[in-house]
Amino acid sequence: MPSDPISPVFLYGGDYNPEQWTPAFGYEGESVWQEDMRLMEQAGVNVATVGVFAWVSLQPDEHTYTFGWLDRVLDLLHAHGIKACLATATAAQPAWLSAAYPDALPVDENGLRRGHGGRQNYCPTSPDFRRLGQELARRLAERYKSHPALLLWHISNEYYGGAGDNGQPCHCDRCAARFRRWLRGRYGSLKSLNARWTTAFWSHTYTDWEQVVPPSPRTDRGVQGLVLDWRRFVSDMYLECYRGEAEILRAVTPAVPITTNFMGAFKPIDSFSWAPHLDVVSWDSYPRPDDHPSAVAFRHDLTRGLKGGQPFLLMEQAPSQVQWQPYNPLKRPGVMRLLSYQAVARGADAVMFFQWRRSRGAYEKYHGAIVGHDGGADTRVFGEVAALGQELRELGEGITGTRLPARVALVFSWPNWWNVEYLPGPSASLNYLDEVIRYYRALWERNVAVDVVPPDRDLSGYDLVIAPLLNMVSTAQGAAIERYVEGGGAFVTSYFSGVVDEDDRAWLGGYPGPLRRALGIRVEEFDPLLPGWANSLVVPDGSSVPARAYACDLWCDLLHLEGARALAVYGEDFYAGRPAVTEHRLGAGRVLYVATRPDGAFLSAFVGSLLDGVGIAGPLAAPAGVEVTRREGKDGRSYTFTLNHNTEQACVPLPTPLKDLLTGAVYLDTLALPPRGVAILTPAYSLR
Ligand code: GLA
Ligand code: ZN
Repeated sequence: MPSDPISPVFLYGGDYNPEQWTPAFGYEGESVWQEDMRLMEQAGVNVATVGVFAWVSLQPDEHTYTFGWLDRVLDLLHAHGIKACLATATAAQPAWLSAAYPDALPVDENGLRRGHGGRQNYCPTSPDFRRLGQELARRLAERYKSHPALLLWHISNEYYGGAGDNGQPCHCDRCAARFRRWLRGRYGSLKSLNARWTTAFWSHTYTDWEQVVPPSPRTDRGVQGLVLDWRRFVSDMYLECYRGEAEILRAVTPAVPITTNFMGAFKPIDSFSWAPHLDVVSWDSYPRPDDHPSAVAFRHDLTRGLKGGQPFLLMEQAPSQVQWQPYNPLKRPGVMRLLSYQAVARGADAVMFFQWRRSRGAYEKYHGAIVGHDGGADTRVFGEVAALGQELRELGEGITGTRLPARVALVFSWPNWWNVEYLPGPSASLNYLDEVIRYYRALWERNVAVDVVPPDRDLSGYDLVIAPLLNMVSTAQGAAIERYVEGGGAFVTSYFSGVVDEDDRAWLGGYPGPLRRALGIRVEEFDPLLPGWANSLVVPDGSSVPARAYACDLWCDLLHLEGARALAVYGEDFYAGRPAVTEHRLGAGRVLYVATRPDGAFLSAFVGSLLDGVGIAGPLAAPAGVEVTRREGKDGRSYTFTLNHNTEQACVPLPTPLKDLLTGAVYLDTLALPPRGVAILTPAYSLR
């Protein structure tokens, strides 16, 4: 895994669409571009993402390529010391392509072929789409392989994003046939597929591969194995599109790293399975103004986890407002800066925006940009962007490439996500992401570093592993968790876990299947509660969590102790007094089970007690709403980021004198952070 940072200094810039500002659109000469360069320098921009939606400008018809304008853009960027994050331009195909190859357009789940328009509006198995996209990528690579501005490849854009907006993945006959081929590869025989999908149910048994069709309202969503594999398949088909382009780029420009921009916790794309095929991970962060900072932090950590802690790029964020929410408030002064440093604090080596210049027309003309329709630098947004650019430039080298060592892991899995929320299920209110983020928030409140890992990652380096709602557990995963615990680890899981295997077949002989021995419990029944129903968790005296009754709702497992002991019991209903939180000692480790959805107060105290148990604390003891992380270099240097999410000043006590790299100020025993303020602390006195 490459560990060199992609750039010794922070990358700063964003999406740049000069093709919208050419003589063809009535702009004289390339005067707007000249102005862009001047303003980019003023804003401290050192990278521009070029060409993301420029396919038609690069290839106006199937047999004509027009790279001249891009030559000039790249030359201009280089002349101004700006690197290019060069897109392969394949996220939105030109109208001529859709017209010439109508079956490159996707078919919806009702069997209707979509018309041309939008973006990501193609069938991912279309050989013509793939061929033409790869040809464009090849020509771009050949043409610019020695261009000094070329820093990074940006393949396509937010895979499946547009398809998501439009509803469903492609259901064309070719995709259906490809799905069958994919299933043959996975199962080998129809007999095995039938067994793994439990198709004797409702006489679903297939006697010929041709009978297997993608799930849709017209066909069948009753076989959960089919639905689950369809999701795996769809994620894989987009990955094939990505890999088709990546292989070409890699062959022509082996030294140029490749990325595609993810969307954080985006349900259709199993980013863990994609990550090995990216050289550097990037993502687009668009939090709502009312998102809790921990929810944003989680997405950064998830992204950083994709390649085992390697720093990532914040490929896009809005300088201020977006246009695609029902209401699009401005980012308040200081918020963009705070969110930018939050990304850096959690492992970003780049802070980039969508977009440089606000487009004049079409879908995104009201989407914020660094340069607005007024065209000048004399705006609040430009001023904030330029000030941040200056700060990042002054930080210089050193921070990029550093990592966030963590002793705690939080398990996250896309197939498990798909599975937990499959309907009909025991409860329509199950929400995997929410549940994971509830636990994450308790860790975030303590400013404890967390690695987000898939269930198959080696856990042996962690002291505490939390795997909420891990419904789907294979035999091998169960055994690995058991080994981890026996070796001295602490493991926590919650309700509805260990119920099914990787094919969504229920574990026989008692839940939680392969986790039963480790947990020392047997779950006999689960009681998904109606909305508005609640129970309580009663914590007795003498516990490490303050003794009282805490609220819980959504779900209550009814379990028997098989070696574990109860840490808390239910307060109400016919199972009042029965265990609701359990602890089991196994080998040198402990395993905890939370059989319900407790309130935030319980989770906070409970997770806090686990951290105390293994002696893990954040880098600084900070007041509520102050986020603290620490990035560490191989050379022993460390950078402690402190971010004040409060709208009032916050005082952070310091154990030793520390110096803020942003201001140069030395704080002896207390750091006073202004509202939304940020400090990057290093030892004040060092021999370095
Ligand atoms: C996404 C896309 C961009 C742009 C922004 C708008 O992140 O990648 O092209 O549409 O959304 O917020
Ligand atoms: Zn298709």
